[in-house]
Amino acid sequence: MFDRAQQLANRIKKAEQIHIVTHIDADGIAAGGIALQTLERLGKDVSIECVKQLDEGVMSRLLQARYQLVWFTDLGSSISTDYPKLTKVITDHHTCSEDSDLPFHLNPHLFGFDGSYDLSGAGTTYLVARAIDAANTDLAGLAIVGACGDLQDRRFCGLRGTNQMVVDEGISAGVLERIMDIRFFGRETRPIVKLLTYASDPIIPGLSRREDACTQFLEDLGIRVREQMEFRRWIDLSSDERHTVLSALFKLLLDKGFGAKYAERILGETYLLSREEPGSELHDAKEFATLLNSTARYGKHDVGLNVCLGDRQVWLDRARNLLRGHRQNLVEGLQVAHDEQITRLNTIQFFHAHSGIRDTIIGIVTNMLLNTEEVDRSLPLLGFAETKEGDIKVSARTTQTLVNQGVNLSAAIKHAAQQVNGVGGGHNIAAGATIPKGAEDAFLGFMDTEIARQLAL
Ligand code: C5P
Ligand code: C5P
Ligand code: ZN
Repeated sequence: MFDRAQQLANRIKKAEQIHIVTHIDADGIAAGGIALQTLERLGKDVSIECVKQLDEGVMSRLLQARYQLVWFTDLGSSISTDYPKLTKVITDHHTCSEDSDLPFHLNPHLFGFDGSYDLSGAGTTYLVARAIDAANTDLAGLAIVGACGDLQDRRFCGLRGTNQMVVDEGISAGVLERIMDIRFFGRETRPIVKLLTYASDPIIPGLSRREDACTQFLEDLGIRVREQMEFRRWIDLSSDERHTVLSALFKLLLDKGFGAKYAERILGETYLLSREEPGSELHDAKEFATLLNSTARYGKHDVGLNVCLGDRQVWLDRARNLLRGHRQNLVEGLQVAHDEQITRLNTIQFFHAHSGIRDTIIGIVTNMLLNTEEVDRSLPLLGFAETKEGDIKVSARTTQTLVNQGVNLSAAIKHAAQQVNGVGGGHNIAAGATIPKGAEDAFLGFMDTEIARQLAL
């Protein structure tokens, strides 16, 4: 991977004018931020755009624009063997075929690693940045924000493989810290009651989604949920108080019959950006990623990119405003999914949000839904939503247990989408597609058959 990164670095150094094309999620924005800073430091003539996917419209526009070099980050593996007239480098981590093992394509899958947890789009881009100049290891923080945005720490309650090397380099560069702490989202910014109420991995029966029960639970432990008028956050608790809460949560899960392996998921590696303000939305890598998701998924990629480039004033304020809207949309999205109800087929289950959930956040909602008590986790979950263009966006999510049993959503969705003139891909545990409106039933039939085949049923 280092040799391939060096090959890409050499191509980039030779070009004067470079156009970056990246993905609209947190990992994509972090990847774009790394590429942008790397090229600006080299004094290149650089431009950037963010896209939902590389469809024919995007590709024909890129071809016509005649850029000297196009750098695809967090996407591109699907077109790596096509468009020979387009001079390109690709730093991606989506599953790809062996024939895409080309000198301009860096992807962990080409080197025997799994791009769903070993390295993200931002991490792959970072490998090229550090090959261009060793001083670029200060961009390791963004690479870890990207990895956390893609939930790469989920499988092992911490990052593994190449990602760990990136963390080590970030620590050496003074931009990252690695600590063991509670894994629930919002350690630094959410009131502790909310942190517990929205706990989803692991779910805490009796507490998850029950705000009153969470308040009671904390009060019974003697933990004040407010300090005068201010709600206390996890980071406001003393280390004794944190220990008390963690022990009580652990005991609660064991008492309810969950094994230690499940209960232990409460704790995990947490990555902090040393140069950010503690208690801000940017200090914890997971929270930083959520802030980025609040921008580009709503067409405001310039906001996220400027935050990645270091703006902590106007652009950060804008990002904070967008974050409020994003949180609201996720809560409403979950409600829509709940109202629409989930339909079960043989090997999959699905819900259709129609125009009730934006196509750009249907994946996040599907993911959250699969991590609630109401949803049966023994079947992959698919969410459908209408796009502005009048197509249908599909997001599919499954569990590590099903992946271990042979489920590969990326392969299944790619096949099923192709059968109905759509396009799809992604990772074994999380994949997506765009299909024509009206093709949902046929698509579901192909998915159902394909997953049954993967499970050898
Ligand atoms: O396009 P990209 O690769 O950046 O997106 C990865 C997607 O996979 C994210 O939406 C992330 O939530 C999902 N994922 C997941 N569970 C994992 C790893 C990734 O849901 N264990
Ligand atoms: O959009 P969503 O979050 O559901 O995407 C899940 C994964 O599938 C992401 O890694 C995304 O990049 C990928 N995907 C893809 N092709 C599509 C749609 C999504 O490779 N058409
Ligand atoms: Zn990614």
